Amino acid sequence: MTSLKPVLSKHWNEADSFTIAGYQRNGGYEGMKKALAMEPDAVIASVKDSGLRGRGGAGFPTGMKWSFIPQGDGKPHYLVVNADESEPGTCKDMPLLLANPHSLVEGMIIASYAIRANHAFVYIRGEVTHVIRRMQQAVADAYAAGYLGKNINGKGYDLDLIVHVGAGAYICGEETALLDSLEGFRGQPRLRPPFPAIAGLYACPTVVNNVESIASVPSIFTHGVEWFQSMGTEKSKGFTLYSLSGHVKRPGQYEAPLGITLRELLDMSGGMREGHTIKFWTPGGSSTPIFTAEHLDVPLDYEGVGAAGSMLGTKALQIFDETTCVVRAVLRWTEFYKHESCGKCTPCREGTWWLVQILKDLENGVGKAEDLEKLLDLCDNILGRSFCALGDGATSPITSSIQYFRDEYLAHLSAGKCPFDPVASTLFVGARA
Ligand SMILES: Cc1cc2nc3c(=O)[nH]c(=O)nc-3n(C[C@H](O)[C@H](O)[C@H](O)COP(=O)(O)O)c2cc1C
Ligand code: SF4
Repeated sequence: MTSLKPVLSKHWNEADSFTIAGYQRNGGYEGMKKALAMEPDAVIASVKDSGLRGRGGAGFPTGMKWSFIPQGDGKPHYLVVNADESEPGTCKDMPLLLANPHSLVEGMIIASYAIRANHAFVYIRGEVTHVIRRMQQAVADAYAAGYLGKNINGKGYDLDLIVHVGAGAYICGEETALLDSLEGFRGQPRLRPPFPAIAGLYACPTVVNNVESIASVPSIFTHGVEWFQSMGTEKSKGFTLYSLSGHVKRPGQYEAPLGITLRELLDMSGGMREGHTIKFWTPGGSSTPIFTAEHLDVPLDYEGVGAAGSMLGTKALQIFDETTCVVRAVLRWTEFYKHESCGKCTPCREGTWWLVQILKDLENGVGKAEDLEKLLDLCDNILGRSFCALGDGATSPITSSIQYFRDEYLAHLSAGKCPFDPVASTLFVGARA
């Protein structure tokens, strides 16, 4: 039985956890002091050795990403933290920034020092005004304490940290679209190569990392590389935030070693709501293929979830019981992807529109059995042919739901309406517009 391992969330129930005083009372900024006493390359080596992998979705090794930044190139280097968090179900970075913003500030100082950057940015989605204010206050307090600005902690290292507010677009979480947006352009993905490590912000070497990835860094220096390695599984080291939402008794953030299972997390969160059973769930947000009750014992690490046919993604566990219509849930997610498609490439721009039209008909029982094959064919033409991963992600809920719940799609057709809806839903008949 794996138990919880609160690190980032350890002091969230303390009234002043978000203040610099509260953070320092619990050992905050000690990791930074240790890291600044090391050579930058040794800092990168420690993060590499720890096994920390990016918590933004793809699980790329963090220390390796930092090591791609060319040294001695005479160009400015930049650290950019991705706090755009907009995927349906994903809800870990915002509570983390609200309750513990200094873990990110401290992590940003360590990461910037390691890659030899003197400017760092945190790009926060525009809708979360309360989080933005809290982050701005944390940065101001860190400047006042001498942890940002000139000659940090008397070590001769300078860093300016800029809080940048986005305008609210899911695509601006894609790292190259984020960089365009940060430069003042419309946020659309860039062609790669060149990768951000070579030509990122203002065409200079740039590391883009997720909030949780960077906020996890100080603990590696406070407690040591071996401490971090001692948690998790062989290839997925450390602890992470699992976000439980939906039909569970106690939804919320559960911080645990990588590799815990949903069955264990459900035990800790009081289980499903009274009298109901689990029907389907996402292991990592709406862009990861759904799972069912048969996947309750899949280890929630990068390898375990991958081997079972999905992705760990952002560890956003959206849990649905038997009262939920899977077709309707998939339609809702697909409407989101259609709305957020940036329009740059045809497979995603046109494809997501058609996916919504067909799903609407199916949900309302006015489609045809052949529509299922049409959906799968469309997904096949989007997956791997889109310019960025938004298009790929849009296909995941559709293909996986047809894989596990084909009969439920067909039941809509035989009922002539959504079987979950007591009211005949002719609302969308002929509404292909
Ligand atoms: C459409 C789309 C949206 C994304 N949104 C986010 C986001 O909000 N936050 C995030 O950290 N990564 C997001 N990503 C992943 C980033 O492109 C990038 O991989 C990540 O920031 C790298 O950080 P990490 O290595 O620390 O995980 C998104 C990717 C795509 C394709
Ligand atoms: S896949 Fe979608 S979001 Fe990505 S570039 Fe193409 S249109 Fe834009």
